[in-house]
Amino acid sequence: MFSGVKPSGNPHVGNFFGAFTRWAELQQPGHFYCVVDLHAMTVPHDPAELREQTVDLASWLLASGLDPDTVTLFVQSQVREHSELAWILDCVATMGELQRMVQFKEKAAGQRDSVSVGLFNYPVLQAADIILYQADEVPVGEDQRQHIELSRDIAHRFNHRFGDTFRLPTATLPTSGARVMDLQHPDQKMSKSEESPQGTIDLADDADTTRKKLMRAVTDSGSEIRASADKPGIGNLLELLSAATGRTIPELEDEFAGKGYGDFKKAVAEAVIERLAPVRARYAELRADPAAVHAELGKGADRAREIAAATMADVREKVGLFGAE
Ligand code: TYM
Repeated sequence: MFSGVKPSGNPHVGNFFGAFTRWAELQQPGHFYCVVDLHAMTVPHDPAELREQTVDLASWLLASGLDPDTVTLFVQSQVREHSELAWILDCVATMGELQRMVQFKEKAAGQRDSVSVGLFNYPVLQAADIILYQADEVPVGEDQRQHIELSRDIAHRFNHRFGDTFRLPTATLPTSGARVMDLQHPDQKMSKSEESPQGTIDLADDADTTRKKLMRAVTDSGSEIRASADKPGIGNLLELLSAATGRTIPELEDEFAGKGYGDFKKAVAEAVIERLAPVRARYAELRADPAAVHAELGKGADRAREIAAATMADVREKVGLFGAE
């Protein structure tokens, strides 16, 4: 299993329920989790901030329950094989398939001539991340599904051209929280960009801020608490409550039948706050000891490098690079 998260912007409850908490639940030796700092360079960034956000995000992953003695937790740029394989895969991926990536289309909308080449071939680096470790399964939120399908296509094409080398990865999604929506614009996914602070619950928010944001979340007309296409606001809150409590949406619909939006929102707020309380407390401890986090990331990179180097030796030989036969 391999998955990654990008250190740009503030991590939020979408990342937590869509990814981090599930990674912690599923964790086993042989799983790889990565803070993908090279991916954070695809849009203009501040160097000092990138370094800071990388350690910060690793602290959130540890606080969410990833155990560095069980899994390999590391920072992408510390394992140079990611960049090396990305170039080789750049020569296997096609312009056409990258142009179809929804995330690129959204992020480059109206400014294609000025965005970086890195933003365009971002999914190729992502494919390299995954197949370098021969991952079968990639636990992600819904928004990454298309990128994982592309990774599979690229791996398949490489195998076809150069002989069996990579396992073909598949995306797996959580049963709830796969697509947490913005609280103010429930037709858009919650995201790390800073455009909608009131619609986004950052992991770093305190309990009070979390409660306020959830109590002010946009709801829908009508008064029924049920998940349906015409009720994106209520549906999103049900999804959050389900993710925070582990209860199913039908169970929650039954429990809140006949109750008002106010009581329902209060219940969602308290459940989210309760779920995040130990994570936020552990994060504060870890931030007080960044040297310990650095040490864990160093050990993780050493382990990751061993696997990555073995894969790359095979790849170099297969594609005919000098000195690799
Ligand atoms: P990133 O950093 O945007 O998101 C990290 C994880 O959080 C999930 N996620 C969400 N889940 C539910 N609701 C949301 N609103 C929400 N927003 C984000 C994402 O699906 C993801 O699982 N390109 C990736 C990082 C990456 C990667 C990889 C992932 C690089 N290499 C290899 C998997 C495998 C990204 O930007 O995720």
